[in-house]
Amino acid sequence: MKARLAAAVLVCGLLAACAPDPTPGPEVKYVLGVSQANTTEPWRLSVIADIQREAAAFPGLRVVVADASDSVTKQSQDLDRLLGLGCNLLIVSPADANRLREAVDRAYKQVPVIVIDRAVEGYNYSLYLGPDNRRIGREAGRYVSSLLKASGGRVLEVLGRQDSPPSLDRSLGFREGLADRPDILLFDRVEADWLQDKAEDVLTPFFASGEHVDVVFAQNDAMAYGAWLAARKAGLKNLPILGIDGLPGETGGLSLVQNGTFAATFNVPTGGKEAVDYAVDILDKVPGIPKKVILRTSIVTTEVPRLPEFVTPPVVRPDGRPRLGFNQVGSESVWRKANSVSIREAATKAGIDLDFDEGDQTQTRQIAALRRFIHDKVDVIAFSPIVEDGWADVLGEARAAGIPVILTDRKLSAVDPSLWVTYIGSDFEEEGRRAAAWIEGRFTDGARRSILEIRGTEGSSPATDRNRGFRDVLAGSNQLKVIASVAADFTRAGGRKAMEAYLKAPHEAFQILFAHNDDMALGAIEALKAAGLKPGVDVTVVSVDAIRDAFEAMIRGELSCTIECTPLLGPQLMKIVGDFLKGKTVPWQYISSEEVFPAEVGARLLPTRKY
Ligand code: AHR
Repeated sequence: MKARLAAAVLVCGLLAACAPDPTPGPEVKYVLGVSQANTTEPWRLSVIADIQREAAAFPGLRVVVADASDSVTKQSQDLDRLLGLGCNLLIVSPADANRLREAVDRAYKQVPVIVIDRAVEGYNYSLYLGPDNRRIGREAGRYVSSLLKASGGRVLEVLGRQDSPPSLDRSLGFREGLADRPDILLFDRVEADWLQDKAEDVLTPFFASGEHVDVVFAQNDAMAYGAWLAARKAGLKNLPILGIDGLPGETGGLSLVQNGTFAATFNVPTGGKEAVDYAVDILDKVPGIPKKVILRTSIVTTEVPRLPEFVTPPVVRPDGRPRLGFNQVGSESVWRKANSVSIREAATKAGIDLDFDEGDQTQTRQIAALRRFIHDKVDVIAFSPIVEDGWADVLGEARAAGIPVILTDRKLSAVDPSLWVTYIGSDFEEEGRRAAAWIEGRFTDGARRSILEIRGTEGSSPATDRNRGFRDVLAGSNQLKVIASVAADFTRAGGRKAMEAYLKAPHEAFQILFAHNDDMALGAIEALKAAGLKPGVDVTVVSVDAIRDAFEAMIRGELSCTIECTPLLGPQLMKIVGDFLKGKTVPWQYISSEEVFPAEVGARLLPTRKY
């Protein structure tokens, strides 16, 4: 390793920021290769600085940085060069996430790869770390809506780059945040490559033309500052300007909000620190590494300062064992039972005292359980909320008692995100998208086909998000149409009943069934057979979870595809509880690694299935 590191040093002309430390240090254990898209944007320099700062805390860790100068060709070559230098792991911040995909795939065949900031398509990397850009955009939209109160107004949007995923997501979210304000007109958008100078250059003639603008939303702080400079030249002194990044320092977004230059920015962690921590965990083969880590972001305005970090409660129990109160939704499905087993087993293994409360599918029962945990002063509460809404009061009580709350499996909507520490689970919307994409790929003959959907528990995040993702993908299809969507409850009996009721009433024929979980699909398959239909022949059935029973149904030819949703969240939950109690900052969301299993792989993979 040492010889190869010396080689790394020799090619410093090619790889920036890799100056050797002449003083003999500890034995080199790992070398991290960092491929940065460019080193001209302040944001990207902060990412590198955070990586280097964090790496310095690990003796034996070395970092080699390559600057791709915004060229995908160069970045792809950089990855090969970093590998050639013997890097044990690569951290990649892509210049163009789509076009770099092949190079990342290639590197991932050789070493673990952490992708930061912009996710590449597919799952051919070890871990993705970054913010939820659509959510940032949505919050920006809501903030603009509050700024323009009842009067409405004209908004100018300054984009990073039209075709880059963060730009697209921030724009999409921004429009969602303004969806209920037809009186607010997004009257123009300009592109400024994420750069201050370019924003200033583009906007100087724009403002000089006298065009009326009420608010500027720039997709990063650098461009927001460029917009401010241009506006000032045109004599526009009180134009509200929003940015994104929230970097520290004199010219960083946080100071610019504080001194009134910006109306708002977003505090977006660079992910550099987390990337290094995960890199070491991955190389040390620590179990429970998620597939995606979504970093916590928050709006910063003069009225809403940065959220204080949740204070970690010290564990003062005589036996030193942390106490975790866990409330489970119930036992409605094979998935749920496997989830309960995973949590119990992982707690025992991690030396965590688990107070496991088995719910009965009712929110009132869950709320009562959380209140008991608060009363019993557990160190951490984790729970799987049956529905998305209605938790603000009890979570406020936990916060007031200083007890951190972790969400597992299911998400909440419309609740102050500072009331919970982190979420561990699946990307349900992506599962719905994958189900639809599999159906699209299966039927390419151009014939029209009708789809029946059986939804999970009403108001639950998997039902809402799988439905949304599924419909999003099929929205543009002329051949595939969802003709009916019926509600059930994630149980096998519920799936059977829903299908019986549908077939009994006057109904349109359908050729495809999408059920939100395997249990409901299996129940519906029983009903289809009882009605004289042949699942797998008359009706193609697709569902979510990938339980063993689904694999058996695929082998029988009754189920055509199952989308994985892993219930094995226990090890990850215990790792996060441990990290949190050690004072580590935990990100906003941990998303599991999941696959798509078509019937063809059923027989081969059944023996490997753990639930
Ligand atoms: O929240 C996850 C869902 O809940 C699973 O897909 C389903 O089987 C379970 O009951």
